[in-house]
Amino acid sequence: MPEPSATNEIILQAKDLKKWFPVRRRLRQALQGERRWVRAVDGVSFSVRRGEIFGLIGESGCGKTTTGKLVMKLLDPTSGEMEF
Ligand SMILES: Nc1ncnc2c1ncn2[C@@H]1O[C@H](COP(=O)(O)OP(=O)(O)O)[C@@H](O)[C@H]1O
Ligand SMILES: [Mg+2]
Repeated sequence: MPEPSATNEIILQAKDLKKWFPVRRRLRQALQGERRWVRAVDGVSFSVRRGEIFGLIGESGCGKTTTGKLVMKLLDPTSGEMEF
């Protein structure tokens, strides 16, 4: 049952968020121009409605903290967007 004050209004929306971090390359890879990435967050979408409690659950290293930082705009996404 929603709280009396709750509405269905979406107050936060993540759209296809991606955050890839560059991996330090070996000299040979660097010379060959090879680029490698850690896909910390790779296409995450969700919305949170007013009054709703949203949980983010997953194994260690799956991207929870990076997602949180993208939501708080402490990190710029590689692609995708956050809307408030
Ligand atoms: N600043 C960073 N530079 C490079 N890799 C990172 C950085 N931050 C996180 N990662 C990597 O991204 C992945 C997701 O990390 P993280 O969001 O901290 O996961 P969780 O919080 O779910 O444990 C991990 O592989 C982690 O090593
Ligand atoms: Mg974490």
